[in-house]
Amino acid sequence: MKTRLLNLHEVDKAAEIICAGGLVGIPTETVYGLGADGLNPMAVRSIFQAKGRPQDNPLILHIWSKDWLERYCDDIPETAFQLAEEFWPGPLTMILKCKRRSPEELMALKTGPISSLTHFGPRVIPDEVTAGLDTVGMRCPAHPLCRLLIRMVDCPIAAPSGNTSGRPSPTTVQHMLADMDGKIPAILDGGPCNVGVESTIIDLTGAEPQLLRPGGITLEQLQTVLGRVAVDPAVTRQMEKGESPRAPGMKYRHYAPKAPVTAVKGEPERGADYIWNHLSHTRWDGVICFEEFVSLFAGGEGPVLSLGSAADKGEQARRLFDALRAMDDTDVKRIWAQCPDDSGIGLAVSNRLNKAAGFHVVEV
Ligand code: TXA
Ligand code: MG
Repeated sequence: MKTRLLNLHEVDKAAEIICAGGLVGIPTETVYGLGADGLNPMAVRSIFQAKGRPQDNPLILHIWSKDWLERYCDDIPETAFQLAEEFWPGPLTMILKCKRRSPEELMALKTGPISSLTHFGPRVIPDEVTAGLDTVGMRCPAHPLCRLLIRMVDCPIAAPSGNTSGRPSPTTVQHMLADMDGKIPAILDGGPCNVGVESTIIDLTGAEPQLLRPGGITLEQLQTVLGRVAVDPAVTRQMEKGESPRAPGMKYRHYAPKAPVTAVKGEPERGADYIWNHLSHTRWDGVICFEEFVSLFAGGEGPVLSLGSAADKGEQARRLFDALRAMDDTDVKRIWAQCPDDSGIGLAVSNRLNKAAGFHVVEV
């Protein structure tokens, strides 16, 4: 299959493909996604195939506005509307109770494989999206092309990040092509993503709101609306035997380049010193560091990539996945990476880096 790159004047072509049950690489403000009609079970299944994604990892739905929530969710708490008011459209996914099906819909689903497997079946969220859970992730993205596309197809778009499972999420159309060329009919080019890490996920179905994945909307921002927010332990540490994260996807080894990564956390000067002292100055060691230290490491033989200034965590978020992918294009055997502190979007950067490092983190 030849993968077409669609430009901003060809959003209608992307919409046609999605309405016909096909897959399109879609730009969002966080990362590129692999989108399909979220109410078409067959289309949703093909997402799992293209990505090589485990079946037990549910997808999130991309919707036009909070006005669509009641079509697909039940028992929506008031806090969901408050968060939507404050942060949507934007990089926030809310886990809510999935709408219970009416007897007519259940009947239609039971009338045989044909009606339940094609998009001629009932227009409800299929189990393929939720992986059989009674909850669903709802996100209202801010990227203008993505919004136009949702408007055109007039249905929720199911989309995981557009990477092949296990690779860093794509933040440019080139990353998207690297993973999906030949596997999907088209990618809509929306330019580089300006958040760079995936959306924040907040679970609103429990007794208290719980942060499942840190992202573009920070914990501090959520706290201004919600007060107390519990943080799933999977955000900051490795799960032990018998433990599992609330977001099924957080259990998978993710974002990992081929070479083992050591994340170095703490005061930036001390971190750079630590790396300098432990680095083998050969082409077998790569460094991902804050801009201020690039010249310090540039003398060695290995690749040195800048994450942006130590003070600019937004830039670090934008550059991280590109840096991890770029290291995969080298033959380094080890990667050292400077890691920001946990405040603001630092929690998301640190979470992705720690996962890339298999939680091999040195505190200096
Ligand atoms: O920024 C984003 O969120 C991007 C763009 C494309 O929108 N999408 C994205 O999707 O990152 P994905 O599938 O790569 O990550 C979604 C995460 C997974 O870890 C999944 O397990 C979790 O959300 N998730 C989905 N539905 C869930 C549910 N009902 N309960 C708990 N976690 C859920
Ligand atoms: Mg993903």
